[in-house]
Amino acid sequence: MSNIITRTYEPRDERAMNEVIQQSFKNPNANAYPLPPSRFVVIAELDGKVVGHTSIRPMLFHVGGSIVRAGILHMVGTDPAHQHEGIGHAMLDKVTEIMRAERLAISLLETPVPLFYRLKNWEVVSDRVDVTVPRAAVEAGAAKFKGTLELRDGSLDRLAVYAGTRERMGSKCWFFVHTNGEYMKLLADKMFHGSLVEFFYEIWLGGQYKGYLFGSRDISIKEGEALRITIKELAMDAYDPATIAAIYKELLSFDDEFQAVGAGFNVVPGLAVAMKALGGTDVKVGGNVDMIRINMVREFFKAIRGQLEPALAGFLRKAKQKEAQDVLLDVDGERVVLSCKGGHVVVNDGTSSCDGCATFSLARTDLARVVTGLVAPSVLVTEGKARCEPRVTLAQLDAVFPPRPVVINYSNHFFTAHAGEMGIEN
Ligand SMILES: CC(C)(COP(=O)(O)OP(=O)(O)OC[C@H]1O[C@@H](n2cnc3c(N)ncnc32)[C@H](O)[C@@H]1OP(=O)(O)O)[C@@H](O)C(=O)NCCC(=O)NCCS
Repeated sequence: MSNIITRTYEPRDERAMNEVIQQSFKNPNANAYPLPPSRFVVIAELDGKVVGHTSIRPMLFHVGGSIVRAGILHMVGTDPAHQHEGIGHAMLDKVTEIMRAERLAISLLETPVPLFYRLKNWEVVSDRVDVTVPRAAVEAGAAKFKGTLELRDGSLDRLAVYAGTRERMGSKCWFFVHTNGEYMKLLADKMFHGSLVEFFYEIWLGGQYKGYLFGSRDISIKEGEALRITIKELAMDAYDPATIAAIYKELLSFDDEFQAVGAGFNVVPGLAVAMKALGGTDVKVGGNVDMIRINMVREFFKAIRGQLEPALAGFLRKAKQKEAQDVLLDVDGERVVLSCKGGHVVVNDGTSSCDGCATFSLARTDLARVVTGLVAPSVLVTEGKARCEPRVTLAQLDAVFPPRPVVINYSNHFFTAHAGEMGIEN
């Protein structure tokens, strides 16, 4: 093994760092600006030469009703002359060290090379699908709408109202970025200064503001393909299919040539359900995938414990059981105790005693699948990928980890919005 050193960024690295980024991404315009504070920027050196770069963008995420400190991994690149020499993985090890030191309980990224990250315990959590409803289905659905609908032009003066709507929507999802005033300002800057084909409307029903939507009208005319309207975001407190159809009908009235409305891949579950009820279909979106890594098991569970309690209470009611089992969770050797006595989940250090409590041991990648509900604990045990002793606790674990509304939504370019709330100074 050669002399690979990973360290944080120093101003003298700037030119070499940019060269590595441009060469690894094969793009003379690729860059990592704006850079987060130096302690979040990782540089790899081989025999004294800069050969690798990545940075962490600290941000806050909704994991259901809880807010979790996270780090987005950005622009991971190794000099093409030195790929497959272990530099990428050395950088990922440094990243994990920084994430833990900065108490960033989870990491997120989108990537075309999931295998590379999987080897360092990242897991794919998204299955990108785009839901589309054809014009005829929109019109049939809108016929059932009773009420008055108005789409009003959005206004920069009302960003605080939109931020409130967006935050309520995000708080129902897992891995939806936290929207504060600053984040909304950055997002608005993008959507209000878009091209002529982009739109932003407020949704008013019966004379009352109910939410907003923004998106674009497809203008790429391809032979034999119908034009469609793409919703980039539609935020409301509830998604009633007839109302959604009425909104889409209004959008389609822009021009007869538009034949469908699609919602993109990070559509929230309520809207996806409404669109499917109208006759919409899923289309798999290729390209990048979203991955997460649970860096700090104890911190993560401390943040989300309130999300686990209703499921635990439901389990006890259904099983007509008075008392829940305490569980020692062992994730690749990182141990925490989920104390479930009295139906409350308290997260204790794994080194504290847990006499007689059940043990659930599993890999970090599988933990990511378990907490999002992509796989049930009992299935992992049956497949021989996890151990649970005694097995009687498995039904409780299955109940505590039901499928979750996973919606990966963030713009890592807006990371400065959370710096103040996270106590991160430049
Ligand atoms: C992805 C990248 C950073 C990997 O860097 P690297 O220094 O070559 O990585 P390592 O040498 O530490 O690789 C460790 C292992 O990861 C796997 N791996 C590495 N690159 C991979 C790739 N592109 N696809 C899938 N697996 C990969 C391999 O198993 C490799 O082991 P091997 O060398 O025995 O084959 C590098 O290929 C790169 O700069 N790619 C272009 C930019 C890019 O796509 N970045 C990711 C954007 S999210």
